[in-house]
Amino acid sequence: MSFLYQQLALQLQQQIEQGQYRCGERLPAVRELAKRRNLSVATVVASYRKLEAEGYLMANSRSGYVVKARYQPPPLSNAPLPQTSPSMVSSQQMALTLSKAAADSRYMALGAAVPAPAFLPLHALQKALQHIVKSEPARLLRYEASSGAMELRQQIARLMALHGAVVAPEQVIITNGCQEALMLSLKAVTQPGDIVAIESPAFYGLLQALQAAGLQALALPCDARQGLQPDVLQQALAKWPVKACVLIANYSNPLGSLMPDAHKQQIAAMLTERGIPLIEDDTYGDLGFSGPRPASCLALAPQADIFYCSTFSKTLSPDLRLGWLIAPKHTARLEYLKFISNISTAALPQLAVAKLLQNGQYQRHLQHVKPQYQAAVAAISNQIGQLFPQGTRLSQPQGGFVLWLELPSAVDANLLAQQALEQQISIAPGAIFAPALAGNKPAFDHCIRLNCAVLQDARLGRALQTLAQLCQQQLARPGSPG
Ligand SMILES: Cc1ncc(COP(=O)(O)O)c(C=O)c1O
Repeated sequence: MSFLYQQLALQLQQQIEQGQYRCGERLPAVRELAKRRNLSVATVVASYRKLEAEGYLMANSRSGYVVKARYQPPPLSNAPLPQTSPSMVSSQQMALTLSKAAADSRYMALGAAVPAPAFLPLHALQKALQHIVKSEPARLLRYEASSGAMELRQQIARLMALHGAVVAPEQVIITNGCQEALMLSLKAVTQPGDIVAIESPAFYGLLQALQAAGLQALALPCDARQGLQPDVLQQALAKWPVKACVLIANYSNPLGSLMPDAHKQQIAAMLTERGIPLIEDDTYGDLGFSGPRPASCLALAPQADIFYCSTFSKTLSPDLRLGWLIAPKHTARLEYLKFISNISTAALPQLAVAKLLQNGQYQRHLQHVKPQYQAAVAAISNQIGQLFPQGTRLSQPQGGFVLWLELPSAVDANLLAQQALEQQISIAPGAIFAPALAGNKPAFDHCIRLNCAVLQDARLGRALQTLAQLCQQQLARPGSPG
């Protein structure tokens, strides 16, 4: 639940972004706004100060709070496509460090893509969990079915239908998060040593899954706004014996790109023609900033061989460990693979989430949290524009809550991540979003990803300032071309 001053700040931020208050224009005087909105003066002052810290306003002794000129860093460059070849994945140790930092309150957790508790519906979850403990005690004292609780599978089938994917509840397999859905999918269609086509930069959890399964990654360069382009995939398929392709078509992690529906259809058709399964990770599909919920590849190409993977980790809570997998052509095999991996997923979170879906609280929470994620991304983009060295480029995500930064090429992002950790700030260095290619300079070694779903407070402002200073120090090193 956010405080009143945060709610007011969010509304004012949206008004500024929509151009209702323009650069140089004065916001209503504190007392006037407090009276108009029936709020205390302290609440209005707190929200103005928040917007000042985020770079939207400046305090002017004569005119009160004035909208500041905003500097948006330029968008990511669509660099010429490098030649790619398949390679084994290694060195995902940093990802474990980020995961630990996300659970340690001493760290400013800008590394792992984990929403701070303030973005999650704690109250609704508590009530639903308590309700299940009271009403269904017997369900909690046995193994749940390997494919999951039917109550949740039914609700997920309804949720999928909202964005055009018509599936039967019996085709839904409940997993321990999307990570398990990805791992089961890969297990179902590959053998160790096989080549899997992935996006570049790629979500590092996928790289971990490839490493665990002994698979080779063929990392395909992606467009910053549209994701993987069909012609790039086509060329790769002509050259390499690809056994599966993994994509995040909706609001990818880390770029935030959204693939046009026509490209989803073309890619599904291209893979179907060659008998290659498509593993679709739709983790962020429900978290778009505007417009209707984008369709999944599964919805657009129901006849294709698709493994649809998703999760409640970014919408309800990562600790539920609750995801799902739908691959209509492989349901029986996946149920067996789930059974031999870890028998089943616990009933308690499944039944509680089924309740939140059934009583509409899931959808209500989405309506509430999507503008908050959007505002957090906008506020951090703005601060990066004000603080970071010239030459910094920034993704323009259309959903989700992560930002991808291309820093000036002389910045060593691995070193930056180490230096930041020493100051108790975690960030994700670009190198962990790519398989290491033997003998090559690591990819994305001057890029970082930031998690924006953190409390928008003074601590965040200080952390961004520290990161910007560390970049400047690297650029000022003797011999640095920056
Ligand atoms: C794109 C993507 N897929 C999968 C996952 C893993 O999700 P889960 O926590 O449900 O295993 C994440 C988490 O960061 C993610 O960003």
